[in-house]
Amino acid sequence: MTQLSGEAAGLSSREDPSAHNVVQEKNIIVSEAARRRTFAIISHPDAGKTTLTEKFLLYAGQIAEAGAVKARSGRRQVTSDWMSMEQQRGISITSTVIQFTYRSHVINLLDTPGHRDFSEDTYRVLAAVDAAIMVLDAAKGIEAQTLKLFEVCAARRIPILTFINKYDRPGKEILELLDEIETQIGLKPTPVTWPVGIAGDFRGVVDRRSGLYIKYQKTARGAHEALEETSELGLATDITPAVLHQTQEELSLLEAVGADLDVDSFLEGKTTPLFVGSALTNFGVQHILDAVVDLAPAPCDKEDASGKKRSLAEPFSGFVFKIQANMDPAHRDNVAFVRVCSGCFQRGMVVTHEKSKKSFATKYATSVFGNDRSTIDTAYPGDVVGLVNAGDLSIGDSLYGESPVTYPPIPAFAPELFSYVTSKDVSKYKQFKKGLEQMAREGVVQVYNDLDPVPNPIIAAVGQMQFEVFSHRLINEFKVPVEIRPTKYHLIRKSDPQCIQMLQNVSGAKVVKDFRGETIVLIESPYWLSYIQSEYPEIFLTPVSQH
Ligand code: G4P
Repeated sequence: MTQLSGEAAGLSSREDPSAHNVVQEKNIIVSEAARRRTFAIISHPDAGKTTLTEKFLLYAGQIAEAGAVKARSGRRQVTSDWMSMEQQRGISITSTVIQFTYRSHVINLLDTPGHRDFSEDTYRVLAAVDAAIMVLDAAKGIEAQTLKLFEVCAARRIPILTFINKYDRPGKEILELLDEIETQIGLKPTPVTWPVGIAGDFRGVVDRRSGLYIKYQKTARGAHEALEETSELGLATDITPAVLHQTQEELSLLEAVGADLDVDSFLEGKTTPLFVGSALTNFGVQHILDAVVDLAPAPCDKEDASGKKRSLAEPFSGFVFKIQANMDPAHRDNVAFVRVCSGCFQRGMVVTHEKSKKSFATKYATSVFGNDRSTIDTAYPGDVVGLVNAGDLSIGDSLYGESPVTYPPIPAFAPELFSYVTSKDVSKYKQFKKGLEQMAREGVVQVYNDLDPVPNPIIAAVGQMQFEVFSHRLINEFKVPVEIRPTKYHLIRKSDPQCIQMLQNVSGAKVVKDFRGETIVLIESPYWLSYIQSEYPEIFLTPVSQH
């Protein structure tokens, strides 16, 4: 029987059919991985990330009509609105994973929470992507948050595509924007599409690959796909001789400086293919979405903690990059988002949690799209699986099916804000402790205890909003009102056990333990740091932050 199926599969009777099946399975995994693109959009709030995301869904046929016809609050529901706080404040705190198919490719778009205040969640999402689209507002260029996010991408060597948005409105000159990108972030822009006319008097773009002119046409509120009418630039009837002349000069200049698309240097993180458009009116959306498929890298073999590459075709493995508790108030559950790195994930399969070596069955695996959850049965490298109530998983933990692997930890980011936290209701100490543990495990804030017999918790974050989320969740989910008071500490360092001992009695420093039991040193200010370093040169202190 086995032999028969082997022959049916084209094997000679001497070949082992089970070996043949393994080869076939591996081939499927490799080809499924090759058609995946996993990326995030990095931008400053208001640059147009939500609008572009929504337009991607329109072009992928996921929504029939873009919600630009709806109010902003309505549009927001396209992304993540899990927490009532988000709805109240009209912001998006939690990350959503959106999966859609476009040109036979499976696109995983991981949402980086967009708010003026920063949170560690945003950084962590970038640990799970293979590429990023940097969206710039044509009137504003590089803004503070774009810069911060770009630095994380650069440190991780994530290739970046650039989309200059809002070209339908008055803005900066395109050459000025190019210069900003090159000087402020050190990426050389290689324009793929080049605008004809200035921002605010936008006529269309020239696709530098074909040399053809694509006329800009508005669609009513951008509800439907933009019409694309192409012609030779010189034959375009809607542009004045002056605009034609200027465009031709600019195109020659680009050629002269060698700003041509170069896939290798893009993948190495040295150049950024650049596109120009208007997400609101849909113009240019397809160009950038096509670039995701044509230029952004597919998932590849990932290095484990020892630097060894684990092949995509190895059995299932992945790592947790985000934990979200109580997403669904009706279920009060907890979802660990796992980026698949190798193999095929199948719902129900037994996986091992590398840190605890505990195995569990993945009965509840979901994909998440806004408020909707649907069960996910199979996932391949590049995909994200949400594991519901999957035990004691923490950010950065590795999971595997058959063969063990330990992926490198997701780097912790040095907190900049440190506050004492106390329960306003002393009778609720147990819930308070439970809440603190949960928030630390999810990485909502970092939690430290000083070494006094009665631990005095300190919470730490990179952005004030993390504290707000923390206190909101403690009251809503654990029914504990908390008081948060700033400490005098502003810096965090690591040291070795001997120096830690010495630091116990040094002014300006405080020795604490994090929730995993690791000892950390808090320092009052840069002044105290240099004081300690000059007074106690034998004390060894290292920063904890690396991207
Ligand atoms: P974000 O997620 O990056 O924060 O930005 P979002 O997409 O919410 O866009 C911010 C504002 O910019 C929105 O206007 C949106 O309509 C507008 N916008 C986005 N892309 C373009 C574009 O290509 N051209 C123009 N002219 N505007 C664009 P809003 O007034 O805040 O909201 P709404 O009233 O339009 O919903």
